[in-house]
Amino acid sequence: MTNTTPDWTDPDTWAGTRAPLTSSTGLHPGAYTSESMFEAEQARVFERAWVCVGIADEATTGRLLVRDLGSRSIVITRDTDGVVRGFLNSCRHRGTELAETDCDIAGTIRCPYHRWGYRLDGSLMSHPFFDEVPRDDFDADRLGLVPVRVETWGVLLFACADDDTPPLLEWLGDLDERMAGYRLDEWTSHTSTELEIDANWKLISENFQEYYHLTWVHPELAKVSRVADHYRYQGDGAYCGQTTTPVSGDERDDWLAMPPAGWLDESDAVSGRFVAIFPNVLLSVLPNHVWVMRLDPLAPGRTKETCTLLVPPDNPDATAEAVAPTLDFWIDVNNEDIDIVQRSQRGLTRGAVPAGPLAPRFEEPLHRFQNLLADCLTLDSLAGIELPGGDDPTAPADRLGTGPNPTPPTIDLTSQDAIA
Ligand code: FES
Ligand SMILES: [Fe+2]
Repeated sequence: MTNTTPDWTDPDTWAGTRAPLTSSTGLHPGAYTSESMFEAEQARVFERAWVCVGIADEATTGRLLVRDLGSRSIVITRDTDGVVRGFLNSCRHRGTELAETDCDIAGTIRCPYHRWGYRLDGSLMSHPFFDEVPRDDFDADRLGLVPVRVETWGVLLFACADDDTPPLLEWLGDLDERMAGYRLDEWTSHTSTELEIDANWKLISENFQEYYHLTWVHPELAKVSRVADHYRYQGDGAYCGQTTTPVSGDERDDWLAMPPAGWLDESDAVSGRFVAIFPNVLLSVLPNHVWVMRLDPLAPGRTKETCTLLVPPDNPDATAEAVAPTLDFWIDVNNEDIDIVQRSQRGLTRGAVPAGPLAPRFEEPLHRFQNLLADCLTLDSLAGIELPGGDDPTAPADRLGTGPNPTPPTIDLTSQDAIA
């Protein structure tokens, strides 16, 4: 039994993670079950990293979004000029929380206490009766809401509560260039669902990152996403990527029921891209839809998962009926994943056995993810974080997987069966 809780900020705690892949171990069970790890992650990961806080099109003018970054609460606005901004969710008068949940606002953020009002750019606009007895030192220009970094990338909305952390595009590495062909910023939300899962957030991400379990946990998914069709999709940056090319679909076509976006290149048009952006968002990008799972840790063994299905802008016929087979398919797959990660959580909680070996053939992405986690926990500042590199595109396929960024098999793209 592993009973002692490690010091999560001590580099020695991470010796098994820091070891080369072929001699590495997974995380200490307490990393998934202990309050001490939960608190350390809230402070050192979620209050410092670029955290996904929503889908970009949730931020509309007239809507105030309220999101957590670790123990912090922030509000997010979109100005009439389209600029998205974030602020600490605290009034500059006496610090009151401005909003509890997402809400509509008519162009002004109003504090409920003494009704100070702020513009969408955070500047202080009104302060009722305050000037009835003037103060010489009162300067409204210095009492705007405290800004927090917020940016959109593709379909996603990110926030970062630490000014020392590198810019978002640096965090994402080559992902911006790698996924540019999808024009994801144009895709729109179709359906969104929130779930609560009895498992640590890392188990959900790690499960997403490996297809080792595919055959046994997802017999149906394995028909459209065959183990043999998986390749690496890994450049530099704070993400773990893999790809299925081609998307097989030979026995069932739920994923392929809708038409693909019309502008995709030869590779994107026939592939599925599966990308876990550290720390908390899981992207499944198919030629005709995107499935996003965003993770919010609630407790060591409990996570809120917000799932969103997106469709490309050139599919105006994405009716509920047209989307239903794709949505049902994802719900089935996700339920299978939820069942197994909850089982992992129970085993880790009750057994607390020492960490086991990672499978080099399948679990290199977990090694990458766990090393990023170790970086965040052990570094005093993320200013100098060394984001992991990508695969060497000239390297031959080896036993860690197959060649990077594979050219898909030759397929007749003029046929509707092209991706089937
Ligand atoms: S605390 Fe917000 S107006 Fe007084
Ligand atoms: Fe799975």
